[in-house]
Amino acid sequence: MNLSVQIAPVNPRGLMLKNPVMTASGTFGYGTEDSHLFDIQKLGAIVCKGTTLEPRDGNPQPRIAETPSGMLNSIGLENIGIAALIKDKAPVWAGWQVPVIVNIAGETVEEYARVADQLDGVDGISGIEVNISCPNIKAGGAEFGVSPGTAARVTEAVRKATSLPVLVKLTPNAPDIAEVARAVAGAGADALTLINTLMGMAIDIHKRRPVLGNVTGGLSGPAIKPVALYIVYEAAGAVDIPVIGCGGITTATDTLEFIMAGASAVQVGTAGFSNPRVPLDVLEGIERYMQKEGIENLTDLIGTARN
Ligand SMILES: Cc1cc2nc3c(=O)[nH]c(=O)nc-3n(C[C@H](O)[C@H](O)[C@H](O)COP(=O)(O)O)c2cc1C
Repeated sequence: MNLSVQIAPVNPRGLMLKNPVMTASGTFGYGTEDSHLFDIQKLGAIVCKGTTLEPRDGNPQPRIAETPSGMLNSIGLENIGIAALIKDKAPVWAGWQVPVIVNIAGETVEEYARVADQLDGVDGISGIEVNISCPNIKAGGAEFGVSPGTAARVTEAVRKATSLPVLVKLTPNAPDIAEVARAVAGAGADALTLINTLMGMAIDIHKRRPVLGNVTGGLSGPAIKPVALYIVYEAAGAVDIPVIGCGGITTATDTLEFIMAGASAVQVGTAGFSNPRVPLDVLEGIERYMQKEGIENLTDLIGTARN
């Protein structure tokens, strides 16, 4: 069986994954933390925590809250900054089989471009995922992702700054996802990732205060899966570049739904907090399905629910 998939077909460097199962940014650290729990080299790709030009402390605590079938987070892009990532993490990744994609964020278009520029040519980095969808920071993030014009400007700036494959991660909080998807594809993105978290909040009725220190946060986990699936379906119908599905994926069945909706690959996020092995379980479940159904190439399943 062949589970491989090309997620940057128009980029001269390409980004071939040996299977479609990736980890979602912010839920798997730098890949180094969980490498003792299962063989992470078996995954299709790892996407690391969102990284900015300077290190960030993130938002005030509490920063996470459990919700029915999901969680709220307002981490606020706490990260080590691009220089430490290049110095301490990339050399480790350079010895790995599994490709690592660096998720980046910024407060200005220029900041995104500067981070992308620094990553170009660094050993151990196979691609960039541009987060224009973080709901938890005051400047930048989702602010860029809700409008087709600003989404395209960030994409164009990053595209100019690097020859690495560029994935652009979109927000479900945009009024017209298809329009943003088309604008980002037109600006030179190699692939789209959908979705980041949905805006949400929780209130502690005893304190009569919001639960999260940041008041609002991003909702993730199984609760958002039907929304994510619908958005992937919409986006895949709007663009020709590969779409990577993300949002509430917990099982192989969830993954196959995304692939049949038009996703070329998927990312597993929140599910890994309750069982870090979920990405591998998902991969093994896809293999079992393909074997049972007599499917040779995973790519034959992409978009089959669309016809
Ligand atoms: C604790 C936490 C931190 C996250 N940090 C980032 C991040 O730094 N950059 C990013 O693009 N997405 C981030 N996300 C969003 C996830 O990558 C993913 O898009 C979202 O959680 C939906 O997928 P899931 O339901 O499988 O978790 C974060 C999510 C969580 C729960």
